[in-house]
Amino acid sequence: MAKLIWITGLAGSGKSTIGNIIYERFKALSPATVFLDGDRIRNIFGDDLGHDPDGRIKNARRIAGLCKFLVEQDINVICATMSLYSEIHEFNRNSHTEYFEIFLECSMDELRKRDQKGLYSMAMEGKAKNIVGVDLAYDKPEKADLVLENTAMSDIEGNVEKILKLVLP
Ligand SMILES: Nc1ncnc2c1ncn2[C@@H]1O[C@H](COP(=O)(O)OP(=O)(O)OP(=O)(O)O)[C@@H](O)[C@H]1O
Ligand SMILES: [Mg+2]
Repeated sequence: MAKLIWITGLAGSGKSTIGNIIYERFKALSPATVFLDGDRIRNIFGDDLGHDPDGRIKNARRIAGLCKFLVEQDINVICATMSLYSEIHEFNRNSHTEYFEIFLECSMDELRKRDQKGLYSMAMEGKAKNIVGVDLAYDKPEKADLVLENTAMSDIEGNVEKILKLVLP
């Protein structure tokens, strides 16, 4: 049975960084594995959805649907996406027998320091809205299989090991 490894957290929490490492390590053992990064999916579908609540939930449904489509064809999926909606977490849980939900936590102070896309600083200056965790609320995963603190660089290696321990047969 193929697996869905769903890596979630706020913007900048480290989803792509950790997801990529998990993908490389997992794929070495199970070649039928893909990495699906939420940002790339938006782009691949032509950036047709915005970042307002309506665009975000549509994008999340699209990503979760795509994961199901692939897993049903025996492809393991490592998915790095925010998509912090209970509806989506429930959909995943009901759609897969091998579902692993990993929530990366990081303090808002550290996220503002990272500010990779300039989103947090723009939001603070009132120049950007629809930023999850600032002006948009989100559903914290209630039933995550792992909740990992990913604030310090030194957290990455240990978090990767914890995830692999959970997901590898
Ligand atoms: N544990 C960590 N400690 C310090 N910096 C980190 C850590 N994990 C990731 N980073 C750095 O934080 C930045 C954001 O990481 P990354 O792009 O993986 O986050 P993301 O959750 O995918 O963000 P987005 O939602 O914007 O796609 C990158 O510069 C990355 O190198
Ligand atoms: Mg990312």
